[in-house]
Amino acid sequence: MLWVARDANPARALGSAPTECLRLPADRALAQRIEVGRAAFRTPLLLGGQAARAHITCETCHREGRDNPDFLFPGVSGAAGTADVTNSLFSTHRGNGIDDPKPIPDLSGSKAKLKIDQAPAAGKLEPFLHGLITEEFDGPEPPPAVLSGLAAYVRALDPAACPARPRQPLGVALLMADTRRGLAAAQGELAAGDAPTAIVMVASARARLGLIDERFAGPALATERVRLHDADTRLAHIQTALRDRDPHAGESIAAWLAASPLLQAGLEVKQPASLFDPQRLAAAAKRRLPG
Ligand code: HEC
Repeated sequence: MLWVARDANPARALGSAPTECLRLPADRALAQRIEVGRAAFRTPLLLGGQAARAHITCETCHREGRDNPDFLFPGVSGAAGTADVTNSLFSTHRGNGIDDPKPIPDLSGSKAKLKIDQAPAAGKLEPFLHGLITEEFDGPEPPPAVLSGLAAYVRALDPAACPARPRQPLGVALLMADTRRGLAAAQGELAAGDAPTAIVMVASARARLGLIDERFAGPALATERVRLHDADTRLAHIQTALRDRDPHAGESIAAWLAASPLLQAGLEVKQPASLFDPQRLAAAAKRRLPG
């Protein structure tokens, strides 16, 4: 709520999201790479410093791989929908001392309109993303599969793949679907022997659960919050198991996934009492935002 322009419509800015223009190929190995990138795109810990502390992800600015006309981050944005990515709040490396916010580009728009040549042969996108993570956002060195996954994801965003309806409701179903996709990507990486990337994938799943948790505020939703915290604790244990090369980590991910429809069903029943509900959202936005 603090990162949204005051005159934005809360139901639109906070209660819905653009639809994703993602072209998934038939080739399974490439599809897995894209899924790794998709989850990494939604992981705050990919970035470092203040961005990670504020739980900012690539997807905060590039909503569902697009732009974000409602984004207004104090001290970082100029007009709504812009960000100064060479701001010293986010970057100790590239903070340039100049207030120069730029429009957040729609990564699912025509490739010809984007500045960075995405053709694999040009060799431009990977170094750009590497600099973005480690320098613009002070993040730690990402595992190689995460970097190549992010590049594959950005390349797979395609205006021709945009669904007919431009926006979708933002709620439990969407965020749980992301959570499951992140964990499926973790399973794939674990099977390939890449535990560091699998750990990032589980971090992505945990961050998506966190976005559900922050909307389940208030005493009436205490039971659901306990369930969410339990589910998150199980994911934290899975991360430890992955770090320790515990051979049962894969089974634990499968068990989590098998139990997730029940968790989701319970959350969906209570969703109307949460801040996913458009009316509650509008009332909360009025209270939160002066004027
Ligand atoms: C704080 C908001 C913000 C975050 C977070 C962010 N970006 Fe961006 N991104 C921007 C802005 C603004 C630009 C345009 C910068 C410019 O024009 O100099 C941009 C540019 C880009 C471009 C180049 C587009 C072109 O024109 O070719 C790509 C690709 C990109 N971002 C991907 C990512 C990825 C991947 C992440 C996460 C690792 C990320 N961004 C995180 C705001 C953000």
